[in-house]
Amino acid sequence: MISILQALSNENIGKSVSVRGWVYRSRSVGKKSFLVIRDSTGIIQAVAEEPNLTPEDFKLASSLTVESSLEVTGTVKEDKRAPGERELLISSLKVYCRNDSFPVAKDKSEDFLLDIRHLWLRSREFTSMLKIRDTVFRSFNDYFYSRGYYQVQGPMMVSTATEGGSTLFKVPFFGQEVNLTQSSQFYLETMIFSLEKVFTVAPSFRAEKSRTWRHLTEYWHAEGEAAWYGNEEMMKEEEGMMDYIISEVTKRNAEDLERAGRDTKKLSSMKSPYQRIPYSKIIDLANEIGLTLKYGDDLGMEEERAVTKRFEKPIFVTDFPVQLKSFYHRPNPENPETVLCHDLLAPEGYGEIIGGGERIWELEVLRRKIRDFGMNEEDYYWYVDLRKYGSIPHSGFGLGLDRLVTWICGLDTIKNAIPFPRTIRRTKP
Ligand code: 4AD
Repeated sequence: MISILQALSNENIGKSVSVRGWVYRSRSVGKKSFLVIRDSTGIIQAVAEEPNLTPEDFKLASSLTVESSLEVTGTVKEDKRAPGERELLISSLKVYCRNDSFPVAKDKSEDFLLDIRHLWLRSREFTSMLKIRDTVFRSFNDYFYSRGYYQVQGPMMVSTATEGGSTLFKVPFFGQEVNLTQSSQFYLETMIFSLEKVFTVAPSFRAEKSRTWRHLTEYWHAEGEAAWYGNEEMMKEEEGMMDYIISEVTKRNAEDLERAGRDTKKLSSMKSPYQRIPYSKIIDLANEIGLTLKYGDDLGMEEERAVTKRFEKPIFVTDFPVQLKSFYHRPNPENPETVLCHDLLAPEGYGEIIGGGERIWELEVLRRKIRDFGMNEEDYYWYVDLRKYGSIPHSGFGLGLDRLVTWICGLDTIKNAIPFPRTIRRTKP
């Protein structure tokens, strides 16, 4: 048994091989049946023709519908008209499961297709997306290992909020309530005191009430935290990571990107360094292109969309006003109205994929900000403790992996960048 990719190789021309997989397309012309078979590696056209087959097997081959599973043995032959320019002349076949008609079809509604996502995932588009996603996750890990980081894990059930109370999911917990984590950041911060440089890849949960093309209620969050790093050093680390992920995807997934309609050359050309643009300049730019924003306004999805359409590469937006960012961001000592932070915005209208920055590490500054943000210090006693015992400068970031995949694949919704999207209206399959 070999894979379809192997079956298509030159060395197998003229040889008898066996492959297994699923019927991708089928049609009969006269006394011939053409079955395009797919496996995880590709597709091959298999031809059933009497007298190469027994009459029973020929009848069976001619009756197979899309997504039936089977094993075929046959001789590989060159044929310029076939996909991959090879064809398999079937000599025998074994059918594992013969289907009734397959429910996925191009003319179905989005809701229906989401209901049968477990079957829709078999499409070639999803197969390509899943392969690209695999490379993104794998290369994120590889990059941080190569930079001397340790992988760690924080809890998913927590009693604190990192990103404000409005998007917290509360779940019952033995007569009390806990929150599903919005970010593992604070736990990563605890672990830099043991390991100095740490990362994690875990789900984060946000009770996002609006339905948008870039929000999920459960998303995959890749976060890093490094002792002794300032905001600028963290941005450089992220540039290295982005360059590495993009180079791996363009190397390993050229065909998948092409299927997604993504221009690989364009993606490869987006190398770091990225521009660092202060928030105040972004407000100016937004107004120049016809939006009406004033200093202090948040950059929403539409603003980011309009601004990033103007850029060919990702950009860092820095120096946000204090009140626009969570309490833990360190005020800039040279301009305390702003914090030492960065958002990385993907170009072409995609917008924010990373949020990060330098953390407050001075005890009194943290206490004051917890008060200023109307929070209760006792709830954060352990986070405050980190500033009492051997506190050090440090920085970190959180990358939305599903958003990164959305942008890399050039998708128009994040729902197609994750196998089973969770949104305000969807918890199945
Ligand atoms: O900017 P955010 O909220 O930052 C944090 O959670 C920090 N505590 C991370 C850190 O510094 N360790 O979220 C980080 C990223 C965003 O830039 C975005 O890519 C993604 O997480 N994200 C979402 N992705 C999909 N659906 C949502 N609802 C998301 N909310 C945030």
